[in-house]
Amino acid sequence: MMKRAIRADLLDFTATPGWGTPGEAGVRFRPDHWLLVDEAGRIAGATPQQPGADWMPDDQRGRLLLPGFIDSHVHCPQLDVIASWGSGLLDWLQTYTFPAELRHADAAVAAAAAERFLDALLAHGTTSAVVFPTVHKVSAEALFEGAARRGMRLVTGKVLMDRHAPDGLRDDVDGARTDCEDLIARWHGQGRNSFAVTVRFAVTSTPAQLAMAGELGRRHAGLYMQTHVAETLDEGLWVAELFPQARSYLDVYHQAGLLHERAVLAHGIWLDAQDRALLRDTGAHIAHSPSSNLFLGSGLFDWPGALQADHGVSLASDVGGGTSLCQLRTMADAYKVQALRGNKLNAWVMLHAATRGAAQALRLDHEIGSLEPGRLADVVLWDWAVGPVAAQRDAVARGAEPGTTAQPLHARVFALLTLGDERNVAATYVAGRPAWQRDLIARHA
Ligand code: GUN
Ligand code: ZN
Repeated sequence: MMKRAIRADLLDFTATPGWGTPGEAGVRFRPDHWLLVDEAGRIAGATPQQPGADWMPDDQRGRLLLPGFIDSHVHCPQLDVIASWGSGLLDWLQTYTFPAELRHADAAVAAAAAERFLDALLAHGTTSAVVFPTVHKVSAEALFEGAARRGMRLVTGKVLMDRHAPDGLRDDVDGARTDCEDLIARWHGQGRNSFAVTVRFAVTSTPAQLAMAGELGRRHAGLYMQTHVAETLDEGLWVAELFPQARSYLDVYHQAGLLHERAVLAHGIWLDAQDRALLRDTGAHIAHSPSSNLFLGSGLFDWPGALQADHGVSLASDVGGGTSLCQLRTMADAYKVQALRGNKLNAWVMLHAATRGAAQALRLDHEIGSLEPGRLADVVLWDWAVGPVAAQRDAVARGAEPGTTAQPLHARVFALLTLGDERNVAATYVAGRPAWQRDLIARHA
């Protein structure tokens, strides 16, 4: 691969931005710079001048270049049920999700779904994800295989569920262990793939299966753990019945040895202070999924509570509970969730949670999440505005409209993430290579 220099407005973070009134601390904005990407697909630096002739110029001036978004919790098979009407979590699982997931036992269905899903992530500006497939080994396999072919950073593993799920969607402890061991041997640490011990939620695993899941994590270095926790009150009551000895829903996972610094727990709405302290002390973190929480009516995440407890928070689409794969839409929903709780999230906190902050929470900040030299060039070019309404708002923020003066950068970026979506994505690069371009016909269109 030739060395490439991409000209655009570069934006990333060098430190964690503060809450409240947006400041500039930690925000690195380099308007009209060239991002330098070396032969290995790694970021070499940035410069305001065009570099020499040995760098292939990729002139995207006027566009915004961000680190590729990280989606820390999303379900591949649920593209089939995104935007399904009328239910709360437990009913939605039975009515829509479980029947859809059954189809992925078929290797051909799973492979087609993985291809469609990974291409869709790239088209929505997401370059890395922590993904739920189904209980079927073939569905995890298809994701690992598709991500490896695209050179994408992916974390996944077959879903564990040995109870409270329909026929065809349940495994058993020994079969699940064998499947996981085989997937770990073949995919964990291969290229940019990592294996996650994937407990659907406490309801669908027996104590014996949770114990097996904990053992897997202890037996292999660097494994992730992903699950759901404290998403709805109904589910919490059921967990309390099933695990009367646990102090809390989160404690069920703790007792099984599943909380550690590579543990990603979706939702975490109905947690108490002791739970939050446990997240901090174990290094586990919450994948906040506001689109899903609003759509399923699950509740309003206490982000300030997380901040106070000092545990990690990343941003997640949780499609198909969530209604868009685009992390800009997730941010717009996160803002509205906090507005309902009486807080105002600034754009920096949200953007950070989908880039550098997520990378840190996933212990991947040496590889992704920022434009620091040495990181892989997983980057996305965004149009600042699409359509007349967004264009006008952006022109006013830039001071380009008669009678207006330039507003702080935050106003432009906040308008982008409030008004924008995947139509703003002009191009997505994975490890320095163009992986998706709006103006080309998509492979599977
Ligand atoms: N809890 C258990 N399974 C699921 C799922 O598929 N989606 C969501 N949002 N919550 C869950
Ligand atoms: Zn989920």
